[in-house]
Amino acid sequence: MTKKYKRTLVTSALPYANGPVHIGHMAGVYIPADIYVRYLRLKGEDVLFIGGSDEHGVPITIRAKKENTTPQAIVDKYHEIIKKSFEDFGISFDVYSRTSSDIHKKTASDFFKKLYDKGEFEEQTSEQYYDEEAQMFLADRYIMGECPRCGNPDAYGDQCESCGSSLNPTDLINPRSTISGSAPVMRETKHWYLPLDKHEAWLRQWILEDHKEWKSNVYGQCKSWLDTGLHPRAVSRDLDWGVPIPLPEAKGKVLYVWFDAPIGYISNTIELLPDSWETWWKSEDTKLVHFIGKDNIVFHCIVFPAMLKADGSYILPENVPANEFLNLEGDKISTSRNWAVWLHEYLEDFPGKSDVLRYVLTANAPETKDNDFTWKDFQARNNNELVAIFGNFVNRALVLTQKYFDNKVPACGELTDYDKETIAEFKNVKETIENYLGNYRFRDALKEAMNLARIGNKYLADTEPWKLAKTDMERVATILNLSLQITANLAIAFEPFLPDSSKKILQFLNTNNFGWHQLGNTALLPAGHQLGEASLLFEKIEDETIEKQVQKLLDTKKANAEEEVKIETAPQKANIEFDDFGKIDIRVGTILECQKVPKTDKLLQFLIDDGMKKRTIISGIAAFYNPEELVGKQVCFIANLAPRKLRGILSEGMILSAENSDGSLALIQPIKEVKPGSQVG
Ligand code: MF3
Ligand code: ZN
Repeated sequence: MTKKYKRTLVTSALPYANGPVHIGHMAGVYIPADIYVRYLRLKGEDVLFIGGSDEHGVPITIRAKKENTTPQAIVDKYHEIIKKSFEDFGISFDVYSRTSSDIHKKTASDFFKKLYDKGEFEEQTSEQYYDEEAQMFLADRYIMGECPRCGNPDAYGDQCESCGSSLNPTDLINPRSTISGSAPVMRETKHWYLPLDKHEAWLRQWILEDHKEWKSNVYGQCKSWLDTGLHPRAVSRDLDWGVPIPLPEAKGKVLYVWFDAPIGYISNTIELLPDSWETWWKSEDTKLVHFIGKDNIVFHCIVFPAMLKADGSYILPENVPANEFLNLEGDKISTSRNWAVWLHEYLEDFPGKSDVLRYVLTANAPETKDNDFTWKDFQARNNNELVAIFGNFVNRALVLTQKYFDNKVPACGELTDYDKETIAEFKNVKETIENYLGNYRFRDALKEAMNLARIGNKYLADTEPWKLAKTDMERVATILNLSLQITANLAIAFEPFLPDSSKKILQFLNTNNFGWHQLGNTALLPAGHQLGEASLLFEKIEDETIEKQVQKLLDTKKANAEEEVKIETAPQKANIEFDDFGKIDIRVGTILECQKVPKTDKLLQFLIDDGMKKRTIISGIAAFYNPEELVGKQVCFIANLAPRKLRGILSEGMILSAENSDGSLALIQPIKEVKPGSQVG
């Protein structure tokens, strides 16, 4: 299956321009992609690296609404911030553009039109929630209501964040529009669907048979999708932010963001190479590789390939080396909870240290499973690896040369057996790194590059040239010659990983770029070559610096907790008439029986003596009481709430409880015992 390719087209997921980028984005997508392209360039291969911002989608419209501005203003702001972060971290895109560009709108629109004309879509009319007050169809995220699984009153139309269930808007109990607050109605709307079911057969062959070499996390996810069976997917939405559907009958409809965004890879290539982009996208000798995070797998392995295939003129990805997620100090990174290390903030606190973060995020990359970033680990890797091994070696080689040889490369004399062993050891490094990088194993590749620094460091520690200076200058010359050659090799080996440091070493050595093929060569610097001025490659990071970062995260936790309290102290509702109040029949009842509803975490089933009969009521307070301790107690309940079925059990009323700011519930009880059935009012 090894095919000969003439060029490599590398894409990295287009980040949503609704917030800055953080370490999770970097570790998962951009650093591995950048290492890969830098390596290929260093090898002299023909490679293109495509990036850009994903500027459509509902979250951006929601953010705009929240901040009282327009979606365009949001994406303008974050596109610039994101672009700058990537530059600052040396992510070497050949183009970084955006999906709100005119070129993209035209490319995506034409792409849709071609598929439409070819009959590649199915049209379906369905009923969807519509907000009559705001006069718009509601995206899933714009609908809230009660979760049918756990009773959380603020579940979203696509997901309940309380119990984690994924939902459809029609699953919600008492849905409401978050735009106007009104109850939405069902209304018919027409959409275009990509019939993935019709693509299933070739996708199965292409992924499951022809690409068994894909990373197991990627292959596994694809297999599970394919085994579950593919269904048509809507590629249009009723929304006013996005690429308009180029059909007269599609007024007020746009392309679904996941349809237009991957086309952004193509648009951005066109923007860069208007005359030759097709060579990159349409010739079989181009190797296409998508770098993404795990939440993007289905779109890049199934949906986008189906789109490309439906068009018929494009190549398909050769590999999709998706990573898992990076957590931060044990918690999931979250933009909305500000639980992240933001790149622009990192550089304010650690100016000039982009390589340190690149190093830590590569060494700790979530390649096969989710991983955790901690500031302690960051400090340890900087101090014990970058400073103590890599930096220490380079610094000693340079300082000793300055001291004994007037900062000129000394001549290499006769090699001892130990010298030869050392050379033999690092000759393997090139091939090992190549193997790892070829298989998208960036952590292992970095470890191997670091191993080269270890070899150098050990060589100097073992040979101790500073002790020989009085007696055997010829030997010192050989040791330092070899050490400087290793230093030059380090500049090559680390260029893909730590480009700034590599550049610094070249400056210290007063030499130009090397090529990847020179890695392993021990005659890179001729004797007599004048070296440049050296300084420290890496600096120790002190405890206080790390403590500050940890404190910053603790502050975030605290702010989030306070924010939650604020949100949960609900504002007073609008006034009502006395008659309205009179309609509610609140009574006291005595609990006769109480038990957990099987297979739920939150629900308790009560049997209540209501003064006339026994009635069953289901209540979502299981987390706060033991059923046994409640039997015999009195509670207040709404007696005339229309009965409804919960988990197959008819609940006749609602038991009243008060909600604490931390979300915990307390049952309401009369202060002294009353006759069951007594009215509350
Ligand atoms: N914006 C998406 C995300 O952050 C990624 C889009 S990748 C593209 O998850 F292929 F659609 F561009
Ligand atoms: Zn729920």
